[in-house]
Amino acid sequence: MTADDSRVVRPCRKIGGRVKAPGDKSVSHRAAMLGALAAGTSRLENFLLSEDCMNTLRAMRKLGASVTRDGNLVKIRGAGGMFQASPSELDMGNSGTGMRLLCGLLAGHSFVSRLTGDASLRSRPMRRIQAPLEKMGATVELLGAGGTAPARIRGGNLRGIEYAPPVASAQVKSCVLLAGLFAAGATTVIEPKPTRDHTERMLRAMGVRVAADRDAVSVEGAGSGRAPALEPLTMVVPGDFSSAAFWLAAAAAREGAEIVLEEVGLNPRRTAFLDVLRRMGADVEVRGVGMKFTPEPRAGGEENYEPVGTITVKGCALAGAEVSGEEIPNLIDELPLVAVLGALASGRTVIRDAAELRVKESDRIAAMAGALAAMGVVVEERPDGMVVNGGAVVRGGGVVETRGDHRVAMASAILALSADGPVTIRDVSFIATSYPDFWKHLEDITSVRMATP
Ligand code: S3P
Repeated sequence: MTADDSRVVRPCRKIGGRVKAPGDKSVSHRAAMLGALAAGTSRLENFLLSEDCMNTLRAMRKLGASVTRDGNLVKIRGAGGMFQASPSELDMGNSGTGMRLLCGLLAGHSFVSRLTGDASLRSRPMRRIQAPLEKMGATVELLGAGGTAPARIRGGNLRGIEYAPPVASAQVKSCVLLAGLFAAGATTVIEPKPTRDHTERMLRAMGVRVAADRDAVSVEGAGSGRAPALEPLTMVVPGDFSSAAFWLAAAAAREGAEIVLEEVGLNPRRTAFLDVLRRMGADVEVRGVGMKFTPEPRAGGEENYEPVGTITVKGCALAGAEVSGEEIPNLIDELPLVAVLGALASGRTVIRDAAELRVKESDRIAAMAGALAAMGVVVEERPDGMVVNGGAVVRGGGVVETRGDHRVAMASAILALSADGPVTIRDVSFIATSYPDFWKHLEDITSVRMATP
């Protein structure tokens, strides 16, 4: 971190406008990887050009796919069911999704692959993917301390398994299903709580049969050392709901504010934050649900494609809420914003059952508790969440340590808009891992310039 890797966020009087959120990160990673494996050329519009997704595209090139880019239109000529060995280590940067999903695909290959990432990614738990991949017959060495990356994988000859991960994680589910494409027989994942299903939808859109009920998902592997034939994708990547959520939070608690978010992904496994907003009393309207999908539906029901729509939020007084249980995986990346809204709402906001937040890009429970406290908010950290006491004045003049976590930095900036003076947010360069245009959009909706100190 350098001295100027900070921003001073100044409070703003008005919040309003239209924002087109950037392409969805989860969908962009998956489209890059599955496009790279498909037979033929995929055409991905509105691909997220963030550092994380660019690392995934670079990895796909090293594995034999041909990738060209014109602005945020990405074309990928796939390797046709099997990758080539990468000539060098694959650096997945800051991205857990990039690393865990790619480990699943590489477990299907008999050559040795090496994957690494930045200091944050090298501190995150990888035994959660090592265990199922080894059950399937791959060898996964974790070279970091305590079961962390760098990882060295040799696979091939996989057998299908039935696996019940101990944690609800779409990354683990996807890793196992992607390895399952290469395995002999069926691979089934039984989830403790439902998680985002982008992998399942995309595989179906590419012609793979995926059986799913509420908590079990299965794929049938080709069992031949190759993935089953995947048809190339032609899709417009939906706007990232998790990026749009920053603007929802910015406007929801501010009387007189109004923001319209266009072309946002509305996958029902991603939108529980809208339910929380409504429980807090927010004025939120969603249009277009059930009308627009990407890729354009060809075969099967609409549940095989990503729904897209428009969200309008108008500011009003909010009251605290409780968030726990099944809802948690559905809004896991929005929990820093639930804490921010808790600070702006009256009464207490309680987050429970969210210990997973401690193993994200940072320990997000500790990081958000620290960020809120730096702005004078009374917050109690708990092992699996926090209690935020809302309704008091948000104090300016402080410094927020974001621990190199993009979502902590952005959520803190949103709270700082309502402080009684400027707030310095440290370590903001990590925002580029998911939302390179964040500051531009923040300045657009506030009409305030956010300076570097
Ligand atoms: C993601 C799954 C979630 C989420 C992450 C993206 C994905 O992680 O927090 O930002 O794309 O599958 P976990 O699977 O670790 O819960």
